[in-house]
Amino acid sequence: MKSGPGTVSVIGMGYVGLCTAAAFASRGFKTVGIDIDEKRIEQIQQGRAPLYEPQLEGMLKSAVRKKLLVATTDTSQTADTSSTFLTVGTPSRKDGSIDLTNIEKAADELGKALQEKQSYHTVIVKSTVIPGTTNRTIKPILAKSTSKAIGTDVGLCTNPEFLKEGTAIYDTLHPDKIVIGANDKRSANTLKRLYMRFYGKNLPPIILTSPETAELVKYASNAFLATKVSFINTIANIAQTIPGVDVNHVAEAIGRDPRIGPLFLKAGPGYGGSCFHKDLQALINFSEDLGYSSILLKATEETNEQQAEKVVELVEKLTGPLEQKRIAVLGLAFKKDTDDIREAASLRVIRLLLKKGARILAYDPLAVPNARKSLGESVEFAKDLRSALNATDCCIVMTEWNEFRELQTKDYLGLMRAPNLVDARRLYDPKEYGAMNFAAVGLGPQR
Ligand code: UGA
Repeated sequence: MKSGPGTVSVIGMGYVGLCTAAAFASRGFKTVGIDIDEKRIEQIQQGRAPLYEPQLEGMLKSAVRKKLLVATTDTSQTADTSSTFLTVGTPSRKDGSIDLTNIEKAADELGKALQEKQSYHTVIVKSTVIPGTTNRTIKPILAKSTSKAIGTDVGLCTNPEFLKEGTAIYDTLHPDKIVIGANDKRSANTLKRLYMRFYGKNLPPIILTSPETAELVKYASNAFLATKVSFINTIANIAQTIPGVDVNHVAEAIGRDPRIGPLFLKAGPGYGGSCFHKDLQALINFSEDLGYSSILLKATEETNEQQAEKVVELVEKLTGPLEQKRIAVLGLAFKKDTDDIREAASLRVIRLLLKKGARILAYDPLAVPNARKSLGESVEFAKDLRSALNATDCCIVMTEWNEFRELQTKDYLGLMRAPNLVDARRLYDPKEYGAMNFAAVGLGPQR
């Protein structure tokens, strides 16, 4: 491959890296996707997506067929491209602080690959990293491993991503902004030009700032969204105790105020996913190291943890003591359209139910294989939706899958042993569930 402005490489073929690589290739950029996991690389080479994400597999197939995307374990191929995105995972350590091992290794290998390169190369940190990482950790590693001047021979900038699982491709193609944090003008301009070519007339607003600010933007964004969810769940818990009150109407009304906005005001069983909890913990930990302890961020997390108990309380109100009760859990994924169960509220709720002696029958259209790894034999997995309800004492709807919306009162009544339904995702209109013992997050006792 000849290095030129239309060539990019991406190190780390997880969610973010795969979607980034697939998107660049789909817009005609010659793209190299790199990962240390040989099995994953083999799958991508065959045009198969190693994880479930709508639209991704189609894009990969077409990109591989057109030879616009090459997947490899060989980092030296980065030298044949003009820019490299670092998209490796930045997991949490046990104490919640960020573990930079993967990105340090990736930066070192990338640097070595660039040692002999004669022309300018831009390195873009897309992984979520705590403020200061690009300049204080990545920059010295690259300087040492490339033996080049960073900012002159090799450009370095930070460019966080804001994509959501389930709509990751759409989000990559239609972002609301691009944030570029750079120390030097050349790398900022190179990345800006790359995005101008990528988005053409649809280029979103670009916010140019320092690497540290760009790094903080990512945490601020996730912390704000998580706080919004914990906020509405707080209001839901209050609403639940007042006859005739419905949190959904509260959310609709306050969301009309442009200062508040309607999104991320859906009360539920608490947020899950690989990012909110991890990023909040990293931010809490990072600011504590700097001498600032955030009451707000800790409360966001605590409220979220507590929300699982609130769901179990709703179940107990309908069924009485849970010992030996057969409970159907519909939905295991942390949200619909994904097979991801990382930090899913369903896991917190199931663990609480098990502790109280309940027997669980769980169903999810996609996430059962992942859930099995985490829950093992402690729960029974139903082969389909209807057998999950069979002879159960209560059903809890934990994920907002469309197929659950289609269930009607008669389906529940026909299959279950007792007519108890807890709608933790507010899928159903309470008015239509009069024939059942119906409880829902944020819904006060019905008059
Ligand atoms: C989140 C952010 O939304 C992305 O912008 C960010 O890029 C991503 O993390 C990341 O850092 O990689 P994601 O984890 O895919 O994306 O999921 P979200 O759609 O944000 O949902 C997170 C959780 O909050 C889910 O469990 C969802 O059910 C819950 N949620 C969301 C609610 O309970 N209520 C809402 O109103 C919205």
